[in-house]
Amino acid sequence: MRRYARIIGTGSYLPPRRLTNNDLAAELAQRGIETSDEWIVERTGIRARHFAAPDVASSDLALEASRKAIEAAGINAQDIDLIIVATSTPDMVFPSTAAILQHKLGISNGCPAFDVQAVCSGFVYALTVADSMIQTGAAKRVLVVGSEVFSRILDFNDRTTCVLFGDGAGAVVLEASDQPGILSAELHADGSHVGILCVPGHVSGGNVLGDPLLKMDGQAVFKLAVGVLDKAARAALEKAGLQESDVDWLIPHQANIRIMQSTARKLKLSMDKVVVTVDQHGNTSAASIPLALDHGVRSGQVKPGQTVLLEGVGGGFTWGAVLLKM
Ligand code: ACO
Repeated sequence: MRRYARIIGTGSYLPPRRLTNNDLAAELAQRGIETSDEWIVERTGIRARHFAAPDVASSDLALEASRKAIEAAGINAQDIDLIIVATSTPDMVFPSTAAILQHKLGISNGCPAFDVQAVCSGFVYALTVADSMIQTGAAKRVLVVGSEVFSRILDFNDRTTCVLFGDGAGAVVLEASDQPGILSAELHADGSHVGILCVPGHVSGGNVLGDPLLKMDGQAVFKLAVGVLDKAARAALEKAGLQESDVDWLIPHQANIRIMQSTARKLKLSMDKVVVTVDQHGNTSAASIPLALDHGVRSGQVKPGQTVLLEGVGGGFTWGAVLLKM
């Protein structure tokens, strides 16, 4: 009998400081940078985002989201036997944010904890690793978190990128089960596109060398994203022997409503079947999918037994899809 990884609890957390497009535009105006609610909404669908306070780290957001997921799962944190955090904005160069999170959660059972770095595809990558470890019997109860403080790596003098991103965290608890959970996964990367979306700076000899702020060729990212997402979704469906029409909910990475609409159209799914949070959260990178999933679950949209397709795309260039039964 196949051993599945089933989601038994979801949670999410947004830092309290919320900025509407108008709030952000007013702050940017003080730097002489011009933008508007109208431009941002029309090009991206984003209306607001949350920014963490300066002393709040990814592990702090992850902690809040994890506590809610663990509570929803109805388990004791000590029963978790693997922690994976997807993040591109870790607390430190090392150790991993997952190890820091383990300590903050008070988990003292010695379970493995590590980070996965695949930028905005990080959560689907982390979920796939967790699924594989559950299928092989290496883990039974896994906490998978996407957590980001992207505000730390934004260039607030670059209006083409700083209006797009926000901070937040989302988490799921996966449990080994003989009942269907994750049905299939499909992951990809093409490193030849490293330069179109990157933070090129690094630490060397006690200094930051290169630029430590986000650089993006938005149009190149847009084109690649709309070209790969439906293919990854179809491949995941084919692996599971399902059709597009079997999907109850599409939960894509929340970067830009136009990318989401294009993918839904190509998969012949109406926007009624797409969980949308980009308007309220902006692009929270690895946190965006678990944030949207938790929103869908807690709002009563996503129900037990339904078929959900998660899709990530981002820097690397990386992309992938995970198909699952709730
Ligand atoms: N406010 C006002 N005007 C702006 C702003 C702004 N914030 N940003 C750019 N503009 C101007 C530009 O200067 C340009 O003006 P010009 O025509 O006078 O030169 C004009 O708006 C159009 O700019 P474009 O870059 O052509 O705008 P586009 O329609 O391509 O939209 C956007 C830009 C929103 C970035 C789009 O390309 C996009 O969404 N790309 C995908 C980005 C994405 O999804 N990234 C996340 C990937 S996930 C990850 O791994 C992090």
